[in-house]
Amino acid sequence: MGWTGLETDDRVSVLLVDDQDENLLALETVLAGPGLKLVKASSGIQALKCLLDEDFAVALLDVRMPDIDGFETAALMRERDRSRNTPIIFITALSTAETHVSRGYSLGAVDYIFKPIVPEVLRAKVQVFAELFRKTRQVERLNESLRQRTRELEAANRDLESFSYSVSHDLRAPLRAIAGFADIISRRYRDALSEEARHYFDNIVEASERMGQLIEDLLAYARLGRQALRRRRVSLYELIAQIAADLAPRLAETGGQVSLSPNLPTVHGDPTLLGEIFTNLIGNALTYSRPGVPPQVSVTCEVGLDWVTVQVRDNGIGIPPEHQERIFEVFQRLQSESSHPGTGIGLAIARKSAAMMDGRVWVQSVVGEGSTFSVTLPRHAREMILAAREGREPWTDRVASS
Ligand SMILES: Nc1ncnc2c1ncn2[C@@H]1O[C@H](COP(=O)(O)OP(=O)(O)O)[C@@H](O)[C@H]1O
Ligand SMILES: [Mg+2]
Repeated sequence: MGWTGLETDDRVSVLLVDDQDENLLALETVLAGPGLKLVKASSGIQALKCLLDEDFAVALLDVRMPDIDGFETAALMRERDRSRNTPIIFITALSTAETHVSRGYSLGAVDYIFKPIVPEVLRAKVQVFAELFRKTRQVERLNESLRQRTRELEAANRDLESFSYSVSHDLRAPLRAIAGFADIISRRYRDALSEEARHYFDNIVEASERMGQLIEDLLAYARLGRQALRRRRVSLYELIAQIAADLAPRLAETGGQVSLSPNLPTVHGDPTLLGEIFTNLIGNALTYSRPGVPPQVSVTCEVGLDWVTVQVRDNGIGIPPEHQERIFEVFQRLQSESSHPGTGIGLAIARKSAAMMDGRVWVQSVVGEGSTFSVTLPRHAREMILAAREGREPWTDRVASS
C-alpha cells in the first residue's frame, strides 16, 4: 500500500491550448522536462475533450482563438468540471490585457501570462501548480487508502461480532447438557460416589457454571454492536444514584460509600448503554478495594457545552501502568478468580458502549492508592436546548405548531 506517498509515476499533466502550432511548440519547448506530461489542444473544443480523459494540474489557455475563444473555453471548462476546478492561466498579449483581466478572473483564471512569454516566468508558474497538484494527489491517495482500511476494519469487526455471537450462542446448548447431567450425577448418585469422585463432579459443575457466565457475558458483548442505538434524554445524576442504590447491599457488606456530585448533567444517550457503563465502573470500584480499606467511590464531572466527562474515582488497589490499556479488552483480568470473581468483560462492555455513543473511557491509576475511570460523552447541547425549548424529545421530528 502506498503509505509512503511516494509514487512511481509522479508525472502530472499540463494542458496547452492554442490554435497556432508554432505557439504550442514554443510552450512545449519551454516546459519540456521530466515531471510534466504536456498535452496539446489546438481548439477550445479539443481542450474540453482532453479534460474528459484526464485531470490537469493547470491549463494554459490562449485568449484569442477562432470558434470559441479562451474565455468561452474557460466558461465551458468551469461548467464541466465544477468539482475539480482545473486552474487556468490565460496567455494574452500585453496590449489587450487590461480589458481582459477582470473578465478572465471572473471565469476562474488563476493567473495571466503576457506575450512575449518570459520562459522563466512560465516555468515557475506552471511548477507551482504542478507541485500543488502532486500534493493534492498524494493526500487523495492516502485518504483513499485510509478509507479502504477503515472499510476493511469495519467489515472484520462485523465478522468477529457475528462470529462470537453465533459461537457463544451455539455453545450454550451443549454446555447446558454437560452441566445438567453432571449436576444430576453429583446429586442423585452422591452416596454411590467416592469422596474423590464427588469432589471432581463438584468441580465440573462449578467450571460449567463459570463457563456459562463467560458465554453469557460474551453474548452480551457481541449483542451490543447488533442493537440499534436508542437515544434519550438521561439524567446522569438519577441514573447513577439508582445504580448506587441497587448496590446498597454490597456497600453495607464492605462498609463502602458512593458519593455523587450534584452537578452531574443530563446527556443524550442510550439509557441501557449508560447503565452498563456506570454499573461496571462503580461495581469494579467496590470489587477491587484494598484489603481492610472500606471502598470510597466518588463520581464527579466536568461539563463543557458539548461534552461531559464523568470521573469514577476509587481508593482501591490501583492498576499498574502496563496493564491500563489491556484491561479494556475482553476477558483480560489482573486478579485471580478465587480472590476476585469476574469474567473480565465489564470494561470491554463499558468501552464499547461509550464508543457507540461517540464517547470514550480511559483510566488513570496509582497502584496502592486508587484509580479514576473517566467517561467522556457528547452532550449535543444545541439539539438538547432546541428540543427542550420546543417541548419534545431530542432528535424526534419537529412538529410544526399552529
Ligand atoms: N477500579 C479498579 N481498580 C483496580 N483494578 C481494576 C478496577 N477496575 C477494573 N480493574 C481490573 O481490570 C480487570 C477487568 O475488569 P472488568 O472488565 O470489569 O472485568 P472483571 O471485573 O469481571 O474482572 C479486573 O479484573 C481488574 O483486574
Ligand atoms: Mg468488572
